Order: sequence, then structure tokens, then C-alpha cells
Amino acid sequence: VRDGNGVKGLIDSGVSEVPERYIQPLQERMNKKDSRTCDAPPIDLSKLNGSEHEKVVGEIVGAAETLGFFQVVNHGLPLELLESLKDAAHTFFSLPPENKAVYCTGVSPCPRVKYGTSFVPEKERALEWKDYISMVYSSDEEALQYWPHQCKEVALEYLKLSTKMVKDIVEALIGKLGVALDDSKIEGLIGMKMVNMNYYPACPNPELTVGVGRHSDMGAITVLLQDGIGGLYVKEEVNDPANVEWLEIPPIPGALVINIGDTLQILSNGKYKSAEHRVRTTSRQSRVSVPVFTMPIATERIGPFPEVVKKDGLARYREVVLQDYMNNFFGNAHAGKKSLDFAR
Ligand code: SIN
Ligand code: FE2
Repeated sequence: VRDGNGVKGLIDSGVSEVPERYIQPLQERMNKKDSRTCDAPPIDLSKLNGSEHEKVVGEIVGAAETLGFFQVVNHGLPLELLESLKDAAHTFFSLPPENKAVYCTGVSPCPRVKYGTSFVPEKERALEWKDYISMVYSSDEEALQYWPHQCKEVALEYLKLSTKMVKDIVEALIGKLGVALDDSKIEGLIGMKMVNMNYYPACPNPELTVGVGRHSDMGAITVLLQDGIGGLYVKEEVNDPANVEWLEIPPIPGALVINIGDTLQILSNGKYKSAEHRVRTTSRQSRVSVPVFTMPIATERIGPFPEVVKKDGLARYREVVLQDYMNNFFGNAHAGKKSLDFAR
């Protein structure tokens, strides 16, 4: 099976230099010197239900309008669960290649479980230095039957607890747009959920490669658990393109990273920023990260909320069927925020 060994397999086979197909063009390589660390303090989500509700909503909205990324603590997810997830990711990717290859597209016993490497290898000029397993949620029964047993229980628990948190965040964001949505409409915006486990093996030539190339996420909101290695960078949107800065989202023990995706940028008519981000490789240690992606179900039509369009005086995006948006997103290599052009 093509790419069944992944980057991990490549490293385990003893290569001491990255093969040509992983070498990024000059303009995509990352230089740690060109960036600084994002020093925004994490947002305390436990205060969302108390007297400081408005203040916390303000912090969430402020971050969504500017960087499109923030970190949260006291999020309701047990810290032991987060530790178990990172362990499960290491356990899964340490399996012999043949035990992972059974989840490759075409042979995977469930179409919603997929093991792969890079993003869209057949479309990429240079491959990303990353292996992943992706699990789209359909039902508990399916998850417990088909998700890899090394991670299914923790991944399912993580998905459930994080979507509860995501719902609170989405509610806060939509409320501040002056849009009134009932509970079921809010839930509809995150009706499709997927949990991935990413593995970035230590790389012999980190200056030539990327873990993930520049992209924005397509969904409503992404929750990300990262380990202590670091390497996630976000592009600050500035008026002068010559002054673009990449901010590293630093690992904070116990915190989760939240970012806005294209869907929320479209719905909010551009008020909330789907941030461009990428991942650096390192030569020291392997890194794992565990994102949960949330988005409306594929048959939903999404476009800017009429209330916001009215206030803004124009619609910055057209209405699209999410399935079409997804086909475009997953059918092309990562290319910054180009994915949003599909809705223009
Ligand atoms: C991604 O954005 O695709 C991955 C982020 C990460 O691993 O930190
Ligand atoms: Fe991403």
C-alpha cells in the first residue's frame, strides 16, 4: 500500500538525510529567527459560567477577531485524559508499519478511519513531514468497533468533552455577532466532528522541511492538544505584507489551543479570522499533536449571516454547500488561505 510506512517508517529504515521529495522550496522553509513567541495569556474557561462571563466572552471574541488563535485552561478536560492521549498517539505510531497500513484508504475497514502521510501527497510539490490517523465521528458503536484500539476510548472521550467546550465558545462568538441562534442551530454548526492524531518524527534536516505547510483549517473551530516540543506557528495578519510575523503558539502544560476555521470566517463575513498556520520540524524529538475538528454537516449551506451582511453593507463571501467546500479543501495541497477563495 502506497505510503503505508509513512515518515516514521522512513526514519526507522535509517535514512540520515531527508529524501528529495520532502525538501521544501526556499520560500516555504522556516527559520526560527523570523518569529517570536505569542505571549497572550491563556483564557480561563471556568469563568465563562460566573460573574466574569462578559469579560471572558470579550477575551474570546478579541482573539477571534485578531490572531484567530488562543489557548484555554480550566476547560473541563481532565489533565490525565490529555496525558493519555499523547501516550496513545506515541503507542499507535510506534506500531510496526503493517499494523498501521491496515487503515490506509482503500483497505481501511471503515471509510471514516484513515491513516496517511502528508496532506494530499499526489498534489504536493514537497511532502509534509507528518503521519496521521484521522477518525471522523459517526456513532459510539462505530468508533469502538473501528477506531484503533490503542486510542479509541481516549479519543472518543476527548472528542466528546472538547465538543462540549467548543459549543460554549461558538455560542459566545455567534452571540457577539448579534445573531440569535437556538441551541440546535448552534449544535448544527459543529454537527460534524473528527479527531486526528499527528506524528512528526524527529527530522535530520529541519531547516529543509515542514511538519505542515501554511494553511487555514476549513471547519468552524479546531481544538488542538500539543505536547511540549513546540513548533506551531501562526501568521499575524498585518496591513503591510513586508512585515508579516509568525508567532509560535508555545506549549503550556494543561492548556488546549483553539483556532478559528474558514467556516466561521465565512459565517461572520470576515469578522472572525481563520488563521494561517504551519508546523516546524525538529531534529531533537518526535512531536505529537491531537486536533479535534468541528464543522457543520456536509449537506449544510454556509454563507455570511444576513444580520452581519446587513450591518456590513456587503457580503464578502458567497453561499457554499459544505461538501463542495470540503472537496476543494481536501483535493488541493496546502496553500495558505487560498482555500477561502472557493467562497468568493
Ligand atoms: C495542523 O494545523 O494541521 C497541525 C497543528 C499542529 O500539529 O500543531
Ligand atoms: Fe491546521
